[in-house]
Amino acid sequence: MKPLNFAIIGGGNIGRVHMDAISHIPDARVSVVCDVSQERGCALAAACDACWVASYEETVARPDVDVVSICTPSGTHAEVAVAAARAGKHVIVEKPIDVTLSRVDQIIAAATEAGVKLACIFPLRFMEGVHYTREAVMAGRLGRLTLVDAYIKWYRPQSYYTGSWRGTWALDGGGALMNQGIHSIDLLQWFGGPISTIYGRTATLAHEMETEDTAAAVLTFDNGAMGVIEATTASWPGDEARVELHGDRGTIVLEQGRIVRWKLVDAPPGEEERMLSLEGYLGSGAQDPMGISYELHRRQLQDMVDAIREDRAPAVNGAEGRKAVEIIRAIYRSAKTGQTAHLPLVES
Ligand SMILES: NC(=O)c1ccc[n+]([C@@H]2O[C@H](COP(=O)([O-])OP(=O)(O)OC[C@H]3O[C@@H](n4cnc5c(N)ncnc54)[C@H](O)[C@@H]3O)[C@@H](O)[C@H]2O)c1
Repeated sequence: MKPLNFAIIGGGNIGRVHMDAISHIPDARVSVVCDVSQERGCALAAACDACWVASYEETVARPDVDVVSICTPSGTHAEVAVAAARAGKHVIVEKPIDVTLSRVDQIIAAATEAGVKLACIFPLRFMEGVHYTREAVMAGRLGRLTLVDAYIKWYRPQSYYTGSWRGTWALDGGGALMNQGIHSIDLLQWFGGPISTIYGRTATLAHEMETEDTAAAVLTFDNGAMGVIEATTASWPGDEARVELHGDRGTIVLEQGRIVRWKLVDAPPGEEERMLSLEGYLGSGAQDPMGISYELHRRQLQDMVDAIREDRAPAVNGAEGRKAVEIIRAIYRSAKTGQTAHLPLVES
């Protein structure tokens, strides 16, 4: 079968992770690296024997591109994704899929109209521990869900923000929530959602930046459970992100997608030990944004390749990618107004 040709649009930090991931997928290759920076674009293109193109418009028009991986700053995703979909290319977009709901909806509409596949990158969804946790929750094994929490207490130095698109409203769309917390917020909603109300507070406590470096929110879920989200990039040295699920028949706690506590009333002998010894540490961005492995991206990009081959939806499609953005936007709305935000969130 002819390999699928990928264009990586945005050859910065995460563009390199996409390149490594694609190089480990048998029937995929990178044909184009697109970056407005010749230096970064050419360096990455040389590393995967691809060609460098400066403009995304030219990239998406090329016949030797089947799929685009969009790895540009978050607030540029919609313009690139819409152009790619209209050019008939399948679209993979880094998290967050974009930074406002209207921009996300433009992407989803363009992909639907063009009949192309659309995936949003959430690598933790591809951890074994996450898979088994979701299965246990869906089977009702935790009983009545009571508390569903996400704690993202990470660290970024000031140099991470200074002179960068990071920490700006236009291009990052937020701070500790929209950039870092979003991975765990996606898991929280996937396990316990939908969410019905959110009361949130945000602050910029330890960095010079436009957006929040610290946030806290109280949640209620449609199923009656409650929960909290705490996120910061100002907790040195930075701990693994935790998602905690509690019900009247069980507790599951994950750190960076790995199960660290599995206590279920109905657990058969040996299950707890098995769950605590699933796959090993696959890295984390708790202290260093590049402290992640390409392996989870490989799994998600492999899922996209399979989705294209099998003509099915990818595991994390546009609608799934939208949910965490909606929750974060609701926290920002609540923090701004001082009122509880209700979901679904309406944005003009
Ligand atoms: N999944 C993860 O774990 C993870 C980790 C880091 C970043 N990200 C996401 O990936 C995206 C990029 O982050 P990054 O850290 O790699 O940023 P980066 O600044 O390192 O790289 C972005 C690259 O995009 C290029 N670029 C900007 N505008 C462009 C345009 N219009 N056309 C072509 N190229 C353009 C820049 O020159 C730069 O090389 C963000 O959305 C971020 O949230 C995801």
